[in-house]
Amino acid sequence: MPTTAGRFITFEGADGCGKSTQTARFVDALKREGIEVLHLREPGGTKTSEAIRELLLNPASTVSPLCELLLFEASRAQLVTEVIEPTLKRGMWVVCDRFLDSTSAYQRSGRNLDAKLVEEANKIGSNGLVPDVTFVFDLPVAEALRRATHGGSDRMEGEGEAFQENVRQGFLQIARENPNRCEIIDAGGSKEEVFSRVLKAAAQHGITLSEDR
Ligand code: TYD
Repeated sequence: MPTTAGRFITFEGADGCGKSTQTARFVDALKREGIEVLHLREPGGTKTSEAIRELLLNPASTVSPLCELLLFEASRAQLVTEVIEPTLKRGMWVVCDRFLDSTSAYQRSGRNLDAKLVEEANKIGSNGLVPDVTFVFDLPVAEALRRATHGGSDRMEGEGEAFQENVRQGFLQIARENPNRCEIIDAGGSKEEVFSRVLKAAAQHGITLSEDR
């Protein structure tokens, strides 16, 4: 297991795909291997980014697509500069629940913002940082929405099926365009089955972890 340099790993997918549970499990598995790892989520992870998160997810907020794009990037810029870059520099690993691929999937494929604009905005917001490995969780939209809206829906989850289908297709496009970085994970079935798929995919990138909890 290479532990000398910090690695940056992201978990992506449409709402309700179960990625947050899998992210936590993956972080636990890394810790069991003795790897020092920081678990983050986007938007969030700093005081400023959490304040932006509240603005973005509150169903009462009025946010235009362009404003939404810039707020996600502003939240990311703070997280990258304040937390992710210094942590990786210290040799620790960073596992982030969502990162710049979410912006491509939601604001480009979901909101139909110009692809070049989103690409440029992503470069600025992430300060050019690209994950080493990205797991893209994929699930049919109807099932994902059933899971996602179980405890009430936030502003993004309230967008409906057609929007979520575009987001799903956006993620699949990203995975196709970045085959060396992205692993598509079938998010159907039990949590155990899905986690086994994650571990198998991680092994493709030299990350060998055990399944037992
Ligand atoms: P969250 O409750 O964290 O969703 P999840 O548990 O599914 O990750 O809410 C984040 C929401 O923000 C989610 O609907 C995806 C959306 N989002 C974007 O639209 N663009 C982005 O760049 C990011 C990071 C998230």
